[in-house]
Amino acid sequence: MTQHNLHLGRTQFGNIADAGNLLSIEEAHHLLREWVPNEKLQLHMKQVAALMKAWAIERERADADSAQAWELAGLLHDADWEKYPETHCKKIIEELERRHIDPTVIHCIASHGPKYFGVEPETKMDLMIYVFDELSGFIHAASLIRPMGYEGMDTKSVLKKLKTLSFAAQVNREDITDAISRVDQTLEEIIQFILEHQKDVR
Ligand SMILES: [Fe+2]
Ligand SMILES: [Fe+2]
Repeated sequence: MTQHNLHLGRTQFGNIADAGNLLSIEEAHHLLREWVPNEKLQLHMKQVAALMKAWAIERERADADSAQAWELAGLLHDADWEKYPETHCKKIIEELERRHIDPTVIHCIASHGPKYFGVEPETKMDLMIYVFDELSGFIHAASLIRPMGYEGMDTKSVLKKLKTLSFAAQVNREDITDAISRVDQTLEEIIQFILEHQKDVR
C-alpha cells in the first residue's frame, strides 16, 4: 500500500454525539461481504476482529458493548482496501460517519497504520489494532506454508520467520517493531496471543 499517498489529512473522526452507536456484528459482516469479494481479505479481517474481541474481553475486562466496538473495528479496518486501494481507509471512514457510528471505532480504523494515514493511535483499542494487523497477516502467511497449518506452530518459529526478510517480504518489520514499542507487552506475548486466538477463525 506504500505506492499511494494515503494520508487522511485530518485527525478528528465521527461525531461525539454518535458515541455508543455501533453496527451489529451481522450488519458489519453484511457490509464486508458487499465491499470485500476477496475471501482471503475477508478472512484477514475476521482474524483481526477475533483478536480484538478476545483481547478486549480477556485483557481489558471490556463489557459487551465495548468488546463489540473492538470487534467492529477489526472487522471493518480494511473494508475499502480491495475496491479503493488508492483511498484506503478514507472510504470506509466516510461510510461509517454517514451511518453515525461511534467515533472511537472510526478513530481506531483511521489509526491502524500511522505512517500511512497520518493518524496516531491514542486509545488501547487503537494501539492493539496496530499491533495485531501486520502480525496477524504474517502469522497466517506462515501457517499456510506448514503442512499442518497452525498445529504445532510456536512463538519461536514465528520469530525465526520474522528474521527471514525474504519470507512475506511485503510485511513491514519496522511497523511491527514500532507497534510493539508502544504497548506494555512483548513481541513474544503478542505472537502467543495471536497463535492461540486466530487458529480457528474461518
Ligand atoms: Fe489497512
Ligand atoms: Fe489489515
